[in-house]
Amino acid sequence: MDELLELLEPLEPLELFELFLFRNMEHYLERKRKLVNLALYKYLTPVCFPKSLHHAMRYSVLNGGKRLRAILALMVGEVFTTPPERIMPYACALEIVHSYSLVHDDLPAMDDDDFRRGKPTCHKVFGEAMAILSGDALLTRAFQIIAEKITNKAIAPKLISELSRAIGSLGMVGGQVLDIQNTSYARRPGVIPAQAGIQSNCGNVDSCFRRNDKADRRKLFPIHRDTAPRLLATLLHQIHLRKTAALITASVRGAGLISNASERQLSSLTSYAKNLGLSFQIIDDILDVKGSIKHLGKTPGKDAKYNKLTYPSLKGLEESHREAKRLVEVAKKSLEIFGEQAERLKQFADYLLVRQK
Ligand code: IPE
Ligand code: IPE
Ligand code: MG
Ligand code: MG
Ligand code: MG
Repeated sequence: MDELLELLEPLEPLELFELFLFRNMEHYLERKRKLVNLALYKYLTPVCFPKSLHHAMRYSVLNGGKRLRAILALMVGEVFTTPPERIMPYACALEIVHSYSLVHDDLPAMDDDDFRRGKPTCHKVFGEAMAILSGDALLTRAFQIIAEKITNKAIAPKLISELSRAIGSLGMVGGQVLDIQNTSYARRPGVIPAQAGIQSNCGNVDSCFRRNDKADRRKLFPIHRDTAPRLLATLLHQIHLRKTAALITASVRGAGLISNASERQLSSLTSYAKNLGLSFQIIDDILDVKGSIKHLGKTPGKDAKYNKLTYPSLKGLEESHREAKRLVEVAKKSLEIFGEQAERLKQFADYLLVRQK
């Protein structure tokens, strides 16, 4: 008990009853994580020709991970008493998509991370080309699982539409683009940020800045840090909404669709997931400042190093935490129409505020 209190202390001290709920949620998540891992093991392509590709794919998914998106889908299924086996193929597809996004997110051209889930990143083990290609193959595999393993064939196209909208150019990938565009150009001299590559013919960023004046700088960074704080806040909201909340929303809504949720129920679930997803990314940003590699399994301090546009960088830690809490309250309120059936989803939202990883 003392150990747990000590572990929780850095974020915020918990009351005894909260601690009980926290422990309870940890046990629940652990049980569900095991089920999801077993299913993932089954749904991923076995190691066959070409072996290095399939090794890389399995490594990137089966290397740990909290499985929160899959578990969230299973939790929504529980609200409707949907048998978990009807949700599981979709839950696994979510985790496979999420894992692909992390493999690409960690690449040198993106966040350039060496550790993920406490292990060397995919490109560190298998090389950059294999990391890119295994990400592509994971994304494809996820949609194959939905198309082939969802037993209700009328629902499968709806799930495919839901997920593809959430993670495409208007969703997660678009969010990643906004994130990268608002990352410091100076982080790796000689590497051209994506936008610079399109908008200028410079061979490398350093020489580009030597040759050009401030106007070119604005071309590279249309929204500069001197921009009005409100505009930056709007941009940050869009980054979080797209890169993180979109997939979390698809996780919740997809399970709602499988469970034949009504339009009214779907709209409550959408509001819950959107606010939960925004709060989740704020906490991720806070943990990047306050967390340790031991708990996170990824290197902290990277956002500041790369001058990322994050909540703590814009508003400070305290304000960020307040905003994450406010969003969780909105998320919980969205579930009112479900009454006690949604208690676990509400507790999950509270739990995410005090997570350490
Ligand atoms: C990390 O997601 C990426 C974000 C969207 C913040 P998770 O914190 O869910 O990562 P894993 O799956 O547990 O490793
Ligand atoms: C990643 O956000 C979001 C996606 C992978 C879509 P971050 O870059 O903040 O995630 P971490 O901190 O590397 O896990
Ligand atoms: Mg990133
Ligand atoms: Mg990252
Ligand atoms: Mg992060």
